[in-house]
Amino acid sequence: MGFGLLVSILILTLFLKSNHGQQQEQSIPNSDEFFISQFFEKMGINSSKSSHVYNLSLSACSWQVVFCDSEQKTVIGLVAPNLGLTGPMPDNTIGKLKKLQFLDLNSNQITDFSSDFWSLISLKNLNLSNNKFSVDLPTNIGNFGSLEKLDLSFNNFTGNLPDSFSSLAGLQVLNLNRNRFNSVIPLGITNCHSLTSVDLSMNSFHGSLPRGFDTAFPKLKSLNLAANLINGRGSDFSKFELLEYFQESFQGFCC
Ligand SMILES: *[C@@H]1O[C@H](CO)[C@@H](O)[C@H](O)[C@H]1NC(C)=O
Ligand SMILES: *[C@@H]1O[C@H](CO)[C@@H](O)[C@H](O)[C@H]1NC(C)=O
Ligand SMILES: *[C@@H]1O[C@H](CO)[C@@H](O)[C@H](O)[C@H]1NC(C)=O
Ligand SMILES: *[C@@H]1O[C@H](CO)[C@@H](O)[C@H](O)[C@H]1NC(C)=O
Repeated sequence: MGFGLLVSILILTLFLKSNHGQQQEQSIPNSDEFFISQFFEKMGINSSKSSHVYNLSLSACSWQVVFCDSEQKTVIGLVAPNLGLTGPMPDNTIGKLKKLQFLDLNSNQITDFSSDFWSLISLKNLNLSNNKFSVDLPTNIGNFGSLEKLDLSFNNFTGNLPDSFSSLAGLQVLNLNRNRFNSVIPLGITNCHSLTSVDLSMNSFHGSLPRGFDTAFPKLKSLNLAANLINGRGSDFSKFELLEYFQESFQGFCC
């Protein structure tokens, strides 16, 4: 009996201890500093060599690449072009910055999205131009209902342009120049009534333009469809009244 009790106490003590240990591990800071520094670290940026990029002795809001709200509490922007960020975005890093409104990682060597990237639903401006993405663009892009500017140019995105673009009603600028998109232009895009500038040039878009394309974009000023395999004719564009810049290179373009 006494021995049993001793064993129980011993087990209970061990249990409490290991539980305590776990709690300590979980108490890794869930701060913006932590998520952003993990992002840089895992993508090959050493803070002791690049303290101008991030320095854990200082709050993230004072880092050169970070922009915070007016109270200097919440990270709303990350602008980190041309730093040599390499590989896929790791989970549990920038995908956790729930209030992020602008993200500019242009001119790095990023190859893929993290799975939690698609919870950045406050994003207004996303610039991933000139990286090394060679994946399909997931339909989750439709999560970004606040998006105003999307620049994925100069990558190797493949496959379909997702129909979920229908959710991006506030999108103004869409640049997909120089990728390998290989699909029809989805009907969903005709829901993006705010578009002012569209560049789909140098891909493998093919087939006919979706129904209603000619009346879908009342604010359109610039449209570039060059170097694709799209069927169409000049009259498809006669209704774009504001169009200042227009370049097409249709297969079977005619009168
Ligand atoms: C970062 O750079 C410092 C100084 O050069 C070096 O001592 C350290 O090992 C590096 N850390 C990593 C993770 O590469
Ligand atoms: C980080 O910032 C602190 C405080 O300004 C500074 O003392 C330290 O030298 C910085 N770290 C690096 C690696 O520059
Ligand atoms: C993305 O960044 C590149 C390089 O700075 C810039 O030329 C381009 O205009 C940006 N795209 C948007 C939509 O702002
Ligand atoms: C795209 O793929 C081609 C062929 O593999 C390669 O030459 C080019 O550098 C790639 N471009 C980018 C931006 O990754």
